[in-house]
Amino acid sequence: MTLRKDFLWGGAVAAHQLEGGWNAGKKGPSVADVMTAGANGVERQITDGVIAGLNYPNHEAIDFYHRYKSDVKLFAELGLKCFRTSIAWTRIFPKGDELEPNEEGLQFYDDLFDECLKYGIEPVITLSHFELPYHLVTEYGGFGNRKLIDFFVRFAETVMTRYKDKVKYWMTFNEINNQANYLRDFAPFTNSGLKFPEGATAFEREKLMYQAAHYELVASALTVKIGHAINPDFQIGAMIAMCSIYPATCKPEDMMASTVAMQRRYWFSDVHVRGHYPAYLTTYFDRKKFNLDITQEDLSALTEGKVDYVGFSYYMSFAIQDQKASVSSDGTVSIMPGHGTILPEYAADELGAPTFDYVEDRDLVKNDFVKASEWGWQIDPLGLRWALNWFSERYDYLPLFIVENGFGAIDEVKADGSIHDPYRIEYLRAHIQAMEDAVEYDGVNLMGYTPWGFIDLVSAGTGEMKKRYGMIYVDKDNEGKGTLERRKKESFEWYQKVIQSNGEEL
Ligand code: BG6
Repeated sequence: MTLRKDFLWGGAVAAHQLEGGWNAGKKGPSVADVMTAGANGVERQITDGVIAGLNYPNHEAIDFYHRYKSDVKLFAELGLKCFRTSIAWTRIFPKGDELEPNEEGLQFYDDLFDECLKYGIEPVITLSHFELPYHLVTEYGGFGNRKLIDFFVRFAETVMTRYKDKVKYWMTFNEINNQANYLRDFAPFTNSGLKFPEGATAFEREKLMYQAAHYELVASALTVKIGHAINPDFQIGAMIAMCSIYPATCKPEDMMASTVAMQRRYWFSDVHVRGHYPAYLTTYFDRKKFNLDITQEDLSALTEGKVDYVGFSYYMSFAIQDQKASVSSDGTVSIMPGHGTILPEYAADELGAPTFDYVEDRDLVKNDFVKASEWGWQIDPLGLRWALNWFSERYDYLPLFIVENGFGAIDEVKADGSIHDPYRIEYLRAHIQAMEDAVEYDGVNLMGYTPWGFIDLVSAGTGEMKKRYGMIYVDKDNEGKGTLERRKKESFEWYQKVIQSNGEEL
């Protein structure tokens, strides 16, 4: 037996992607509520508030808000030991800056957690999963504003106090490091509620991203400290999007480019875990002359609020090549499929040695050794084992929790209503095997595994329904049509056995 007996087998979702009821129970609009549906390769539009007549897929999502009882029953049948979801900040503080919470919102999560606990399913809660109150964007500029630290901490303290006997496992900011891709609008907006002024330069975008991330890390550290005071048994973790960045070749320049790229994407977990900024980053801040607002008090807060574990998502790996070669004479930049275009001013700027500065959309290349999903996500199970080792060595075998992993694919419902998804089983099987190998052969300290979107939900990246991750099918299409009926896919029974056998039967 490789995995511990109390291994947390589960499933993961986020409030905005499944609950719906976007304005029910006095809930306020969040950043997810002002994002329209995109498509494969077409970015979602971020609108100025909710505009009548546009398709906002998160408004109804899969209507979990009204169906959670029957859904949780199905989760119990699947055999989940834990259920990772988020608390929608806007159900508790509809605008985000109120002093008093909304009782209806608090009651909803009391009922949901009671329902889970009734079946022995442990809730695992993310505090901020792309759900910042929209009011905090328009009135304060999102996490670019220091005031957001207090608003977040008030929210965190409120829910941690309320659910102190129902929830033990928490995470602060979901995939806090997505915003390392600051040249795009999507990640800075969903992570931090940042909207860049028209014509903002790459330098201004990058600086604002670092400022916001700093305030978030301080808010996270304060939350860890407060949480432990509320209940010393709480386990409070970081949540990092891990896409291992391999050097595309063994050319020393590619190796160095990969090292710097990993630093730029994963400094966030260094701060979460070690409680201070790494020298490679402060050196970069100085060189760039960012002059960020980082106070002595902030630095003390960071050291006092180190996380208990690292939660992370893993879907794919990246590869990087020292870049000069891939910018052609007409300025066209070759980038990974599905990653779109980047600001021209950054296309050829500051390439290569000696800084090896990393620009995500510019520098990543296709890895010919692995296949990719229809959405261009490179499939690499061994990369998960690599990632588990990377975190373990870096953070001295701190407990790790794989809180997202999965395969977005188009499913077909057969005439008899059945859904065969062997491609999903194959993906999950290979990743679970890699994770078990990491425990058995490499000694990583692993708490659990919660595959993403185990019930079909709205895609965060594209707003689509047809990019499905689930073992439970939900009858709804990209246009929002469908009965919302739930149906078990072939992978449902397969995962049931995996859990029952504690990962022995794959
Ligand atoms: C992660 C997020 O980025 O990946 C989830 O934490 C998201 O919210 C998941 O849904 C899969 O991405 P997508 O774009 O396929 O929904």
